Amino acid sequence: MKKIIVFVMLISATVFLVQHHVPLAQAEETGSVHSITLPTIPSELKEGAGKDKVMIFCAICHSPDYIPMQPRLSAKTWDNEVHKMIKVFGAPINEEDAKTISSYLAAQYGTGEK
Ligand code: HEC
Repeated sequence: MKKIIVFVMLISATVFLVQHHVPLAQAEETGSVHSITLPTIPSELKEGAGKDKVMIFCAICHSPDYIPMQPRLSAKTWDNEVHKMIKVFGAPINEEDAKTISSYLAAQYGTGEK
């Protein structure tokens, strides 16, 4: 009988906690709000043939900043990168536009290597 009473008490305690939605992170709700200002890094891709295509297709899923953030890459590596976006991540870019984009990337952000 004792066991049953303890069990019932446990159940009601649980039900109470769930129903009253006891907040675990109350401190976060009542704490003061802090704000920080992050430095803004001007991001503008270099001018060059094909930049328009890059701005259209390479900024669909992420910032085009991903491009200048890379170290300089060879033409082949940029081309592989563009095709990785298409094959692995499903970027909707046709082969003709992919070529234009790869050429732009190699010309503006390349090492000069093929
Ligand atoms: C369909 C969505 C999509 C499109 C469109 C897209 N990317 Fe990406 N890209 C991703 C994902 C997902 C990642 C990896 C995850 C992350 O870091 O955000 C990524 C990462 C990158 C990286 C970082 C290095 C790496 O390989 O992870 C570069 C550089 C990059 N993308 C360049 C491009 C270029 C250039 C284009 C245009 C040809 C492009 N992306 C278009 C989805 C996309």
